[in-house]
Amino acid sequence: MPVQVSPLTEADIPGAVSAIQEAFADDPYNNWVFDKSRFSPQRNAASLGLRCQWGMRNGIFQVAKEEGSDEVLGVACWLRHQSAGQPPSWYDWFESWRLWFNQVGMNLYYGRGGLNVKNYARRHELVWSDALYGVPSRVGPLSRVASFKWPCQYSDLNQTSAWLSGIDSFMQAPADLIDLQRYYIWKEAQAKAQSAVWTDPRGYYFLNIMVILPKAQNKGIGRLMMKAVTDQADAEDMNCYLESSRDVPNMQIYGRFGFKFAKELECNDDDTAINLFAMVREPHAGPQTN
Ligand SMILES: CC(C)(COP(=O)(O)OP(=O)(O)OC[C@H]1O[C@@H](n2cnc3c(N)ncnc32)[C@H](O)[C@@H]1OP(=O)(O)O)[C@@H](O)C(=O)NCCC(=O)NCCS
Repeated sequence: MPVQVSPLTEADIPGAVSAIQEAFADDPYNNWVFDKSRFSPQRNAASLGLRCQWGMRNGIFQVAKEEGSDEVLGVACWLRHQSAGQPPSWYDWFESWRLWFNQVGMNLYYGRGGLNVKNYARRHELVWSDALYGVPSRVGPLSRVASFKWPCQYSDLNQTSAWLSGIDSFMQAPADLIDLQRYYIWKEAQAKAQSAVWTDPRGYYFLNIMVILPKAQNKGIGRLMMKAVTDQADAEDMNCYLESSRDVPNMQIYGRFGFKFAKELECNDDDTAINLFAMVREPHAGPQTN
């Protein structure tokens, strides 16, 4: 039966979530960010479900299914390009808050679900923590309050979402300790890589999630899903971007789709480190050797 790529629907979400969980079960990023002994698949499924709903409203979220079948064989989530220096729209801002409130609700219900945490206060300082909860013994000089920004003041959605995640982290932290999840180490590395690699002021189609069920891999479904958006990017003469959690074989596979290695992201938590691989696809790019 031929495979078709279509927009994710509410009915596809459980299948999409289990495809993501299955394909990422032994993923290096997942193994690093989650403490496997405390990992909660239920919390993870709830979190991915929220992401799916957010992605349906805000991104390009697609599934691959065989004609006439409801089984989700592949999932791809792209974030739309956003011009550099352009502040998020009120709609984006509202959506960030909506996602955040939903995530806080989920965290209150499920807890952290095995996300690895570390002492945040020792090594980092957060501007917002000063401004909102400025107790000198805990947060240091209050002079930094001057540099406080509300999320709507950032021009970059990643910074906005880091802000929101920071608040989330604080609310989840014990009263006398601010924890930083490895998630935020990754977010920092990601922001650095993107500011170095994203040189096109028109922005990039950002491939955020791409998975094909293990049993359906290497049958051309990834190419089909990729083409659904790279064709659009080519028609608009836009660049695409992704961060792969594996060099082998993914860099080679993405190279077949025209992506070229651009930068390594090192996520280091007290010498427990992983590297991710940022790749860029220029419009109409043919196969690349990485
Ligand atoms: C990466 C992934 C999305 C690719 O999807 P796929 O359906 O398996 O890929 P395709 O079958 O469409 O193959 C795409 C190309 O890569 C090549 N390829 C596939 N598997 C390969 C491998 N293991 N090594 C080298 N090349 C490979 C294919 O030959 C094909 O090239 P061609 O079309 O020019 O002949 C899929 O393997 C996957 O979900 N992996 C696990 C999750 C993951 O790592 N996701 C990415 C996170 S960053």
